[in-house]
Amino acid sequence: MKVIYPGSFDPITIGHLDIIKRLNKMFDEVVIAILINEAKHSLFSIKERKQLIENEIKEFQLDNVKVKTFEGLLVDFAKKENSKIIIRGLRAVTDYEYEMNIAQFNSSLYEDLETIFLLSDPKFSFISSSGVRELASFGGDVSKFVSKNVKKAIYEKNKLGGKN
Ligand code: PNS
Repeated sequence: MKVIYPGSFDPITIGHLDIIKRLNKMFDEVVIAILINEAKHSLFSIKERKQLIENEIKEFQLDNVKVKTFEGLLVDFAKKENSKIIIRGLRAVTDYEYEMNIAQFNSSLYEDLETIFLLSDPKFSFISSSGVRELASFGGDVSKFVSKNVKKAIYEKNKLGGKN
């Protein structure tokens, strides 16, 4: 079975990585789909985000996982990929309303599409890419929230190399 795990991944956190490792064990094919959204200001380019995720896939030998990018509607990407299963992580009840709304929009646009929610490991339930970006922008230590490789990339980007 092939599933799509979409998101912005700006950047990938250890919470995302935990979900991806779990998906790798559960499904034959996992497509991580990075949304190309020119309107949204991002820390990392699409190419950089893809590379950061690919490094993790290689490091943890997540053989069932691939990374792709998409523009426009997620349902169109899912159709193109021949998959009817979207995966989203739920960190806390505050994610639920937003996710339920998107899942219902998506299933009304694409018959038989299912959204499967994986609960975050409680250890990671407060971690978000936006929190990591903000922390890093003020020189905070992001080591507990992203991999070493992502940390390095963030500090190079923010030119904060000497601070942590
Ligand atoms: O990591 P994020 O930013 O929470 O991911 C959100 C994402 C990319 C899954 C969502 O914004 C999305 O699927 N966008 C594509 C446009 C779309 O299909 N929207 C849903 C119908 S309203």
